[in-house]
Amino acid sequence: MFEQSRELNFSIRFAPSKNKIMQTKNYDVKDLSLAAEGKLKIEWSGQNMPVLKNIRERFTKAKTLKGLTIACCLHITSETANLLITLKAAGATVVACASNPLSTQDSVAASLVKDFGIDTYAIKGEDSKTYYKHLNAALDYHPQITMDDGADLVNEIHKLKIQNAKGKITIKDKKSFVWDFYGSSEETTTGVIRLKAMEKDGYLKLPVIAVNDSDTKHLFDNQYGTGQSTIDGIIRATNVLLAGKTVVVAGYGWCSRGIASRAHGMGANVIVTEVDPVRALEAAMDGFRVMTMVQAVKTGDIFVSATGDKHVLSLAHMKGMKDGAIVANSGHFDVEIDMAGLEKYKKSKKRIRNQLDEYSLPNGKKLYVLGEGRLVNLAAAEGHPAEVMDMSFANQALAARWFVENKGKLEPKVYVLSKELDAEVASLKLQSMGITIDTLTPEQKKYLSSWTEGTQ
Ligand SMILES: NC(=O)c1ccc[n+]([C@@H]2O[C@H](COP(=O)([O-])OP(=O)(O)OC[C@H]3O[C@@H](n4cnc5c(N)ncnc54)[C@H](O)[C@@H]3O)[C@@H](O)[C@H]2O)c1
Repeated sequence: MFEQSRELNFSIRFAPSKNKIMQTKNYDVKDLSLAAEGKLKIEWSGQNMPVLKNIRERFTKAKTLKGLTIACCLHITSETANLLITLKAAGATVVACASNPLSTQDSVAASLVKDFGIDTYAIKGEDSKTYYKHLNAALDYHPQITMDDGADLVNEIHKLKIQNAKGKITIKDKKSFVWDFYGSSEETTTGVIRLKAMEKDGYLKLPVIAVNDSDTKHLFDNQYGTGQSTIDGIIRATNVLLAGKTVVVAGYGWCSRGIASRAHGMGANVIVTEVDPVRALEAAMDGFRVMTMVQAVKTGDIFVSATGDKHVLSLAHMKGMKDGAIVANSGHFDVEIDMAGLEKYKKSKKRIRNQLDEYSLPNGKKLYVLGEGRLVNLAAAEGHPAEVMDMSFANQALAARWFVENKGKLEPKVYVLSKELDAEVASLKLQSMGITIDTLTPEQKKYLSSWTEGTQ
């Protein structure tokens, strides 16, 4: 547990010094000349990440991660850059690769290499082969800790030889190099689902922390972050007016309820589709129309899926949509829209604007797909605002420290960070927002933990 900082300084300025060239030798980014733009973006995000800054100051002083190598497979955005800088300041050697082929901000990747000396392997639009080449380039650094957004890196590690005897975990790579491993932390719901499935099947060989499952992650990042940035992505790709449109949101989980409420706030008529009766009931009582997708396709103008599930928007659904319908995904993988089915069925396709493709269908209709069916908030916009990533990445940094503190004691299973750490992160965030809250009196504490007082 860390102390709270008394003062949270919002004007953050990072090393490097002006005269010092920190450029790494090993990297694969689009264009290093974009670094100046990326550095400004990184600094701007840093100003809205006071909790992470607080942790950076403490970790820097204590050199909490000294001597470790950490490989981060995350969306390479300006907010992620602030996490990577924090890990490096805490004494770690940091290597980064993209967790999605379309989510990299090329200017940020360039700045990480040129200004911050962080080896980075990420190019926006990289193909699948390059994507996995980059993941394996990160593993070639023999990291003790990894961070994932979707569990692809952990899956690559499981292709190597892992030994876990009484908590001493070693990994042997294809060149027979053996190194110690502490654990891996996971950022998103889909990654956690995959890891839990690996644990259930007895396939998981490493301890992992489901950072997504901390309250200060999913309640804020998934809901308010995905809510705002998904709408941002739809608007940047299309510039359509949401007011008066019928927006169909698939799912009423943390992400999708954020999207539904933001679309409603902008004047859209929102329809929700669900498979979970409790969540469907919540959506109905929050005032949304709830129906099946087959019913919704008849009236929807814009469709957004954020379920973590496959083919939520099937070819049959898309064939039934109105002429001119817009389709987007904000779930982790590009499986929510049946893109392969659509590609096969289409008559022709043309790019209209950045991240906006027009599909002409044999049934005479036109359909518009955003971000090639990948996460629209990262493909067509910049992902979540810094204010929420502040808490998500505070949890990631704390997860790295937790692995150091618990080395040798962990089993190959999915762990979550403690409620105390959640409370600490939330308290720091409130403090940075200038909000103070009440505390329980001794009398209230006693009352809340006893059973003796009933009806008076
Ligand atoms: N775009 C982003 O930046 C971002 C951020 C966080 C999470 N995610 C991803 O978004 C997805 C959803 O995450 P979450 O935290 O909201 O998950 P969640 O589990 O809270 O919600 C998912 C909801 O989708 C529903 N669902 C499943 N299949 C469905 C179907 N066929 N039709 C309708 N509803 C269906 C489930 O019942 C559930 O209520 C995951 O893939 C997650 O990794 C994306």
